[in-house]
Amino acid sequence: MDNQKRLDDMMPREIVQALDEYIIGQEEAKKLIAVAIRNRVRRKRLSDEMKAEVTPKNIIMIGPTGVGKTEIARRIARLANAPFIKVEATKYTEVGYVGRDVESMVRDLMGASVSLVREEMFRKNESLVDERIEERLLDLIIPAINEEKKENDVQVIDVRNSMRNLLRSGALDDREVEMVVPQSVKVSGVGVFGAPGAEGMDIGNIFEDINNMFSNSNRAKKKKVSVKRAREILREDELDKLVDNDKVIEEARTRCEEMGIIFIDEIDKIASKGSTNNADVSREGVQRDILPIVEGTKVSTKWGVIDTTNILFIAAGAFSISKPSDLIPELQGRFPLRVELKDLTSEDFYRILVEPSNAIVKQYKALLETEGVTLDFTDEALHHIADIAEKANTSADNIGARRLHTVMEKLLENLSFSADEKKGERVEITADYVDSELGDIVENQDLTRYIL
Ligand SMILES: Nc1ncnc2c1ncn2[C@@H]1O[C@H](COP(=O)(O)OP(=O)(O)OP(=O)(O)O)[C@@H](O)[C@H]1O
Ligand SMILES: [Mg+2]
Repeated sequence: MDNQKRLDDMMPREIVQALDEYIIGQEEAKKLIAVAIRNRVRRKRLSDEMKAEVTPKNIIMIGPTGVGKTEIARRIARLANAPFIKVEATKYTEVGYVGRDVESMVRDLMGASVSLVREEMFRKNESLVDERIEERLLDLIIPAINEEKKENDVQVIDVRNSMRNLLRSGALDDREVEMVVPQSVKVSGVGVFGAPGAEGMDIGNIFEDINNMFSNSNRAKKKKVSVKRAREILREDELDKLVDNDKVIEEARTRCEEMGIIFIDEIDKIASKGSTNNADVSREGVQRDILPIVEGTKVSTKWGVIDTTNILFIAAGAFSISKPSDLIPELQGRFPLRVELKDLTSEDFYRILVEPSNAIVKQYKALLETEGVTLDFTDEALHHIADIAEKANTSADNIGARRLHTVMEKLLENLSFSADEKKGERVEITADYVDSELGDIVENQDLTRYIL
């Protein structure tokens, strides 16, 4: 993540390459999104006058279920440095009604941006913070040594060094030390540091807060805590000293306004077809509420006012019942780029099984490896599985690549169940094995419907 390029430094080709690692096919959609992201950077470089003329081009991805719409969005989000949120259009209600108003998506994006920037600053300073924490922990473990001795007394230096090694090995984690625990170790605005164990830390702090609320004594008091807990408290403290909140918010706001991406899933579910029953009217209301945000408006958040003009919106939907033209015309106009995702073929399925970094076959291999079973697939078997998935999608409902999961589960059911008896063995899945496990089901349409 750290040495990764910023999304805004990536050329469209690089963005597509990065997506290729996880998403098979759908070249057109990948290209269009990459260009949209890059165009935002290009626009930023224009003169103010010109800039005002060029509006960001938002995208609608249309395509059947399970072909990669959400997956593309999810991977864009991981590409780095761009605040990103994914929301579901159906979760919002029209302004004036009880429920989530659409402006909250901008607040959420800013929230995501704040934690992103905080995390970055944290990572930048991580080694420095770790160093300081270590010194302070040593002070707690070996108290009452003055600064002068720490630097000059050979014996003291020796003791500290050997303690430092123990500390690093984790051997002292359960030892208790006495330290001043601040009344409330400040929990950051959003509370996401992305650091391992951060969630647990926050909960710990909440209990701490509650304890202190009832103890009603002076602001900070000395307490016995484990070295492990002391490390967490010191980390929060060091971070607070190091990370300048105003700076975080300022950077987060710029990042949110200039690089933010909001992915609106299930947009087809708020498109209605001319009828005027109550549900449709309120869906139309949500569409109207979305308009100004997409167009460019100012939304106030607890971190200040956010201008939405340059935020990129990517909407997606299956549009199996409604069509993009069932959206209110104004909204259609704000999403000028349309791209259709294709149905996946047997050949795509084969590639999805083996190619992506998180490929399904790799997942199953890893799972069985934990039981000491080495799982292998012949190429023929993999093609056979892909064919079966395609056939099942045709004869039963078309659920896209999700079908691969149901097929693989069924295929490996017996093996998964008895993996303990095969410890140390290598199991090869051949086309014959696939036939023996799935043949009957594939032959029988009713079975396919229920089982795969
Ligand atoms: N083109 C693809 N390449 C690799 N994996 C894919 C592809 N399409 C789908 N998948 C896999 O199938 C799963 C479902 O895909 P995804 O969530 O993108 O569906 P979707 O298009 O958003 O469908 P829905 O309309 O139901 O939301 C993903 O988790 C992913 O692993
Ligand atoms: Mg989806």
